[in-house]
Amino acid sequence: MRDILPPETARWRRLNAVFAEVVGAAGYGQVVTPLIEDVGVFTRIGEATDVVTKELYAFEDRGGRHVSLRPELTASVCRAFAQHRPAALPWKVWYTGPNFRQEKAQRGRYRQFDQVGVEVLGVDDAHLDVEVIALAAEFYAQLGLQQVELVVNSLGEPEDRAAYVAALETYFAGADLTEQSRATLAKNPLRVLDSKRDHDAAAIAAAPKISEFYSGAAAAHFDTVQAGLTRLGIDFVVEPKLVRGLDYYRRTIFEFQGGTLDSAQNALGGGGRYDGLVEALGGPATPGIGFALGVDRTLLACDDEGVFAADVAPLDAFVVDVVGGQEAAAITAELRAAGIAADRGFDDRSMKAQMKLANRSDARVAVIVGDDELADDTVQVRPMARDAGDQQTISRSELITHLKEFLDAS
Ligand code: HAM
Repeated sequence: MRDILPPETARWRRLNAVFAEVVGAAGYGQVVTPLIEDVGVFTRIGEATDVVTKELYAFEDRGGRHVSLRPELTASVCRAFAQHRPAALPWKVWYTGPNFRQEKAQRGRYRQFDQVGVEVLGVDDAHLDVEVIALAAEFYAQLGLQQVELVVNSLGEPEDRAAYVAALETYFAGADLTEQSRATLAKNPLRVLDSKRDHDAAAIAAAPKISEFYSGAAAAHFDTVQAGLTRLGIDFVVEPKLVRGLDYYRRTIFEFQGGTLDSAQNALGGGGRYDGLVEALGGPATPGIGFALGVDRTLLACDDEGVFAADVAPLDAFVVDVVGGQEAAAITAELRAAGIAADRGFDDRSMKAQMKLANRSDARVAVIVGDDELADDTVQVRPMARDAGDQQTISRSELITHLKEFLDAS
């Protein structure tokens, strides 16, 4: 877990604002769910996923309740849907916030990480899959990221997926795999396809393909999704080996992979359909689809590509007061109330020390009050940039108008 400090935090806020704008313009409303839920909400993600078996921050609270910090938000959103039963479908929601997984931390993989995402419940239409994928693509485009590859696959209908898993089990049982992949095979044959180990590569390359198991409906759904993405001019590749790490997926799955990141952590975000999850959480049978994008990784990719920089909102004015601080308090409050971003010195520092602070603050002007100014009811206004004009004496009553003119003009 790590701290996010200024100015990085400003960039996080801006990223959230960009996301809120993209999804807000598409009719999505924000949902906020608790950080802690009954552990049963998260075990529904699937007992065969690392997220559930190894990574949950689950504990017993003082009331003896078995709870867990959330490892993701899809299960929480489905729980909220099952609980509140919104009448108007589709229910289109977006979210932002931290998630917790006990993983081995490394660059791009943290135990507390943030996601922004959407979920749509109640519509089974393949065109919705296209809309959802397009929203994520639009978000990355707004950030300015270029090296993002969209990878899509379909896991078929649940029966197709089950038949495929059985075929993989049989195939891999007789294949030459590493010991680690053999252990994975016993738990979740699909995840063997995720192995990046060289020794597994040949067996994986020759493994049966999910597409050989699609029913007519699953194939038609996937065809519509691909045609829809093409129609919108969104580049993608079909990757039959893409399985994603969570058990709840059916039919369409997708991932956005960053070209600059290590292959083990190159998923900037991902999602898919999960028809069945609301039902598993006690609600009515409800189709669902969504995605979550990792904020931490997305910003690493932005750093690597030199886009969406962390820029600090500069101060307009820095108030320097060598007459005891009361004037600084009054002027600073007046400036802030007028919408002029202002800071000031404290601790009765010398004029020189306060001017140093003003310089460091990157403010565009210093507003200075000494004994003479106090007696005359004036202030000195000193532009901080060398070529921004001379210091002027300004009467207190005209300070705001003067500063606004100066700030607008420069
Ligand atoms: P996920 O693939 O587990 O999917 O996570 C989505 C994204 O969150 C990843 O692509 C990655 O960028 C980020 N992420 C995951 N774990 C970490 C970590 N330990 N450190 C940093 N970033 C991480 C889900 O969470 C699903 N709920 C997505 C979804 C929504 N599917 C349908 N709707």
